[in-house]
Amino acid sequence: MPENIPNIDTSLFAHGIKNRLSFIRSRLQLMELEKGEKGAYDSIYRELDGINDSICRLISAPAGAGEKSTFNAKDVIYECVSEKMPQANLNGIKIICRTEDDLTIHAVKSGFRETVINLLQNAIEACPKEGGEIEVAGKTCGGKAEISVSDNGCGISEGNRKNIFKPFFTTKKSGSGIGLYSCRKFAEDSGGELTVAGNRTKGTKVTLILPVSQGRCP
Ligand SMILES: Nc1ncnc2c1ncn2[C@@H]1O[C@H](COP(=O)(O)OP(=O)(O)OP(=O)(O)O)[C@@H](O)[C@H]1O
Ligand SMILES: [Mg+2]
Repeated sequence: MPENIPNIDTSLFAHGIKNRLSFIRSRLQLMELEKGEKGAYDSIYRELDGINDSICRLISAPAGAGEKSTFNAKDVIYECVSEKMPQANLNGIKIICRTEDDLTIHAVKSGFRETVINLLQNAIEACPKEGGEIEVAGKTCGGKAEISVSDNGCGISEGNRKNIFKPFFTTKKSGSGIGLYSCRKFAEDSGGELTVAGNRTKGTKVTLILPVSQGRCP
């Protein structure tokens, strides 16, 4: 691999850390608003942004790597939605979550979590300044679990659609272009698939299809 092309495993791990930093950042923003302390956390934001910039170059281990286990995807989906809710609220975005009660899957739990967070983050970033809406749905269908994240955002042009799963493809100023690559890799490693539907005017729907586990949750 040529020296100037980033290592995929490093980028996957760094992307996971970036998501967590983004969570801390949005929590701080919310606290700032609630307490009316505008500017109070500026130095912390700068540090977080600095870590964000350097972490991508420092760590090398694959995100989502680990043991598969049997768990109810519904619980993880709700955790992810409540993690992203403050960021969505700050941007005036409504998140609706509808999942079946029993959505038992067998996969790497941290990878599943990371995937749902990535899809929610993309949906939030795509939503319009006003009237943003995201729907997260989960159901079982023909022996598969089907988890989708839909938004009414900017959509994806035909031209970009061909590239969105390529590592490092991004249309964002501060994007790393690794999110969807990482989501698709998780889906395929789990024996499933990830599809994207929608167009420039109707927003985007990303669907994660995973095999349903026959086992019971511990
Ligand atoms: N829900 C969405 N609506 C519109 N465009 C999207 C959506 N999700 C992904 N995209 C497009 O696909 C591109 C690749 O997404 P991906 O998540 O891989 O990278 P990114 O969001 O740009 O950066 P990051 O690595 O920080 O996630 C985005 O830059 C954007 O153009
Ligand atoms: Mg992304």
